[in-house]
Amino acid sequence: MTTVLLTGATGYIASHTWLALQEAGFRVVGVDNFANSSPVVLDRLGELAPAPIEFVQADVCDGAALDRVFETHRPEAVVHFAAFKAVGESVAQPLAYYRNNLGGLVSTCEAMQRHGCHRIVFSSSATVYGAPESLPLREDAPTSTTNPYGATKLMGEQILRDIGISQPAWQTACLRYFNPVGAHASGRIGEDPRGTPNNLMPYVAQVAVGRRAKLSVFGNDYPTPDGTGVRDYIHVTDLAEGHVAALRWLLGHTGSITVNLGTGQGYSVLDLVRAYEAASGRAVPYEVVARRPGDVAACWADPALARDALGWTAQLDLARMCEDSWRWQQLNPNGFNPA
Ligand code: WQD
Repeated sequence: MTTVLLTGATGYIASHTWLALQEAGFRVVGVDNFANSSPVVLDRLGELAPAPIEFVQADVCDGAALDRVFETHRPEAVVHFAAFKAVGESVAQPLAYYRNNLGGLVSTCEAMQRHGCHRIVFSSSATVYGAPESLPLREDAPTSTTNPYGATKLMGEQILRDIGISQPAWQTACLRYFNPVGAHASGRIGEDPRGTPNNLMPYVAQVAVGRRAKLSVFGNDYPTPDGTGVRDYIHVTDLAEGHVAALRWLLGHTGSITVNLGTGQGYSVLDLVRAYEAASGRAVPYEVVARRPGDVAACWADPALARDALGWTAQLDLARMCEDSWRWQQLNPNGFNPA
């Protein structure tokens, strides 16, 4: 049985990937320092997982702690999620983002090198494309970033490329997520933003459940069908399956790959609001306000490479994304925190 180390393992996407990897027959060991996640996730995974939950609390910047994990569990591959991910926060605290996101990646790769582990799946982001020149976005589209968070993702991809050049045995799969949304169908794990949600769907969910009065729509004067921003929303369960497919690719091939994980379908802010109202049966009042600085009008993936190379295609539609988000929101009004 192949052992896989997940860093940032109790985070939103990692926790869903943990389940998908176990269901695919991998042994999983999780590492997290709970900087941006809750230990309660481990209890919930224990309810849902088909195999024992093996976890070590550690900071990926702590090389000695990683050495102990590698010596004990001997992972053959790493799925690296550990990173801060709020664009606005990264602008305010660039050093924290470079230290944690890049320092954590370098520390993890150094530990992998010390222990002869040379396969890594890297959590990247469509944010590396900056403002798209044309759509849909293929993996060979120009890249640029306008914020430190995006820069850590683009630099992370470069670091892994350079390691692969220096050591051809290394294999990396860089996965460029579009807009992850939704929750596990059980409603027991999901997205648990701290404070005011930056992202659209968790904010809409909190309006639908009555925790917030209304949604601020950041601009309706974009060159899009209804004037609001268009994005490629992808169910977190589909995203998790994309990691399983990428890991299988690494284990079955030589070399490396960079892949978009998106549906190829763009939806506007108002499309999502309407879909959420239909899924929840609740009104989602909104007010159009000024554009959010740094936002692009539209962004969606060309998912052909993931289909052709990984044999992976997103399966879940916007209605299911909203239904599963709503179930999570209703069952966990305070996220993983006690009521
Ligand atoms: C989606 C649309 C907003 C909130 C970001 C990061 C990206 C990735 C996903 C980490 C836009 C509009 C939003 C609100 C709104 N994160 N919106 N009111 O900005 O596409 O991507 O999250 O990997 O790196 O950049 O996602 O959900 O913030 O916004 O009108 O309260 O919803 O303008 O059009 P975004 P988002």
